[in-house]
Amino acid sequence: MPKQKQLSSLYCNFLSILTHFAIVFSKSTIEPCSNSDSCNAMVGYTLYTDLKVSEVATLFQVDPIALLTANAIDISYPDVENHILPSHLFLKIPITCSCVDGISKSVATRYKTRPSDTLAMIADSVYSGLVSADQIRDANSISDPSVLDVGQTLVVPLPCTCFNGTDNSLPAIYLSYVVRPVDTLTGIAARYATTITDLMNVNAMGSPSIKAGDILSVPLPACASNFPRYSSDFGLIVPNGSYAITASHCVQCSCGPGNLNLYCTPASLAVSCSSMQCRNSNIMLGNVTMQPSNAGCNVTSCTYGGFSNGTILTTLSISLQPRCPGEHQFPPLVAPPSSPIRDALFAPSPSPSQSGGVGPKTPKSSVIPSTGSLSGLPPANGPSGSTSSAPPLVNPLSSFPSAMILCLFIKFVMSLAL
Ligand SMILES: *[C@@H]1O[C@H](CO)[C@@H](O)[C@H](O)[C@H]1NC(C)=O
Ligand SMILES: *[C@@H]1O[C@H](CO)[C@@H](O)[C@H](O)[C@H]1NC(C)=O
Ligand SMILES: *[C@@H]1O[C@H](CO)[C@@H](O)[C@H](O)[C@H]1NC(C)=O
Ligand SMILES: *[C@@H]1O[C@H](CO)[C@@H](O)[C@H](O)[C@H]1NC(C)=O
Ligand SMILES: *[C@@H]1O[C@H](CO)[C@@H](O)[C@H](O)[C@H]1NC(C)=O
Repeated sequence: MPKQKQLSSLYCNFLSILTHFAIVFSKSTIEPCSNSDSCNAMVGYTLYTDLKVSEVATLFQVDPIALLTANAIDISYPDVENHILPSHLFLKIPITCSCVDGISKSVATRYKTRPSDTLAMIADSVYSGLVSADQIRDANSISDPSVLDVGQTLVVPLPCTCFNGTDNSLPAIYLSYVVRPVDTLTGIAARYATTITDLMNVNAMGSPSIKAGDILSVPLPACASNFPRYSSDFGLIVPNGSYAITASHCVQCSCGPGNLNLYCTPASLAVSCSSMQCRNSNIMLGNVTMQPSNAGCNVTSCTYGGFSNGTILTTLSISLQPRCPGEHQFPPLVAPPSSPIRDALFAPSPSPSQSGGVGPKTPKSSVIPSTGSLSGLPPANGPSGSTSSAPPLVNPLSSFPSAMILCLFIKFVMSLAL
């Protein structure tokens, strides 16, 4: 697998050098796949205007609660789904990445056209450059893009990668990130706690240069689940510092900050949930009991094992550990962002050296249980950056480049050959 990545990257780098002087195009990382592959992935989305939480969720057909928890936004605020998020806010949107025609992509997103929409506007502005006008045109077999019917439902293909849910053999979920004019590879690496080398390997880059409109696959360290294949949330993977909601809103799982073990507890959002008590015990999902003994600490825990046929699967595990673990720490939550100042906290920072700015306010108490102090840090360690550095809404370089098709073809051939 890594070998194949390398070889095909060589060809593609060669191709991009060849074509570099002929046409200027934006790159996106393409992962060949076989038909059964599907995974959790994320896209980085910048709001083109003020939008309600529910409106952003509708744009991507995702659960509003899942959208909020993926960004560690406190969902206990009253009427949080109608909360208005500010223009230019950067959010991570959880999506399902499938395998379509041998390429990893997400094809679940639908957009209903409105008066005076153009494909370019939908691609560059509404979907913040995650898709190009040409890709929407192709996905919907539109022969004349100048004639869009109002109320027409368009498939909006989104870039995503799975890379087997790992990065350097560690669990990872991949974020499709649209490069902004202010970005540098160093800045992106710092912001997402990875390295330039890793970003270059993942994206098969020959040089660390990036330009606005490129779409990078950024590996986010994550907590992987180990649910059986028949569970409906098979493959659940949660990035460090965030939450996921699952089992019909009955269970929430979090990742980090102390370790990368998925930790799930009852979510108490849903009206009726099946039993969350571990069989043959009196302890509930997420409970941990400890019994110090002279041999060490006898730790009994009730862990979440997936959702199947409306049943919450639980596992009772007993282990003898050298020391009793401390109370579980949860990733800090942030209040639903409102003011334009907030977007700086979520927007990619132009350089890692500018961290240490003003932190957000400590959020109020939450449905998501938290122990210890809620320092209220943003999910990404990238405060600062000014609102004036907002990206232009039009991405001039968004046509699907022919070189990438060639490159893709070569990757495909390589995948057959290896
Ligand atoms: C995919 O990841 C799993 C662990 O999550 C590992 O066992 C397996 O070998 C990996 N497969 C490939 C093709 O890398
Ligand atoms: C997870 O996130 C926390 C806080 O952001 C950080 O301190 C920790 O190093 C991260 N862990 C990994 C494995 O990335
Ligand atoms: C088990 O967890 C529930 C909810 O998370 C909590 O209310 C309860 O106090 C816990 N019980 C024990 C014994 O830890
Ligand atoms: C640990 O606790 C469980 C349940 O309380 C008990 O059944 C088991 O015997 C204990 N094991 C040890 C090594 O103390
Ligand atoms: C779910 O329930 C149906 C009907 O009771 C049964 O046929 C099916 O095997 C069950 N699936 C699993 C994964 O348990």
